[in-house]
Amino acid sequence: MWVSFQETATLVCVLTFDDLLERARLLAGDGRRRALLGIAGSPGAGKTTLAERLVRELNGAGEPWVAHVPMDGFHLADAELERLGRRGRKGAPDTFDAAGYAALLRRLREEGDGDGDGDGVVYAPGFERVLEQPLAGALPVPSTARLIVTEGNYLLLGTGAWRRVRAALDEVWFCELAEAERVRRLVARHEEFGKGHEAAVAWVSGTDQRNADLVAATRDRADLVIRPG
Ligand SMILES: Nc1ncnc2c1ncn2[C@@H]1O[C@H](COP(=O)(O)OP(=O)(O)OP(=O)(O)O)[C@@H](O)[C@H]1O
Ligand SMILES: [Mg+2]
Repeated sequence: MWVSFQETATLVCVLTFDDLLERARLLAGDGRRRALLGIAGSPGAGKTTLAERLVRELNGAGEPWVAHVPMDGFHLADAELERLGRRGRKGAPDTFDAAGYAALLRRLREEGDGDGDGDGVVYAPGFERVLEQPLAGALPVPSTARLIVTEGNYLLLGTGAWRRVRAALDEVWFCELAEAERVRRLVARHEEFGKGHEAAVAWVSGTDQRNADLVAATRDRADLVIRPG
């Protein structure tokens, strides 16, 4: 259960979920400059769950000032992956529009700092889990958003356009989960969205695992390592 996270979130010593909220608030500061917080981690490690909870609790019941922009929205469409011959490796670094993601982060920063026209909404793409396709224009980020929480596998990758992603972020946390539990949750989620058990296990131990190994190697670049319970 995600609820257990609050008691068990740890950083090398011990950090509670409330500590993470406080750290995110400090990053946003007085709000004059828009802040960008990244959460990296392997597939199924709990990045999206953590980001959604942070955003929900920081926003509370008042006027929203924190927005969630997932890297997942930058998946290339299946038709393009077919054309590239990369459909079978969906989820690998080259199956995302990394340059587009970096450009959106830069735009969110510039317009949030009042350098652009500043008064409009910036639309980010979402990811539709049943179709497993990106969806343009799905996530409106209002100009009042002072903190952007973005999350995905490759925020800390040191290659190609991914370097520009890291450079666009103020701080990156790495979400780490015990391997057996991560694999169990990932298989369960593939099943929940329509894969049979054997197909889910094959995907997680094949394609997903290669991606997980790449992500794990970026852990030491993070500003903070979080181990949810
Ligand atoms: N504390 C928890 N206890 C049990 N299940 C959890 C917990 N946190 C998250 N999950 C489940 O684990 C799965 C993976 O979590 P989540 O989607 O947040 O991971 P992710 O890192 O965003 O994965 P991906 O890289 O594939 O997007 C989800 O089905 C989620 O509901
Ligand atoms: Mg996710």
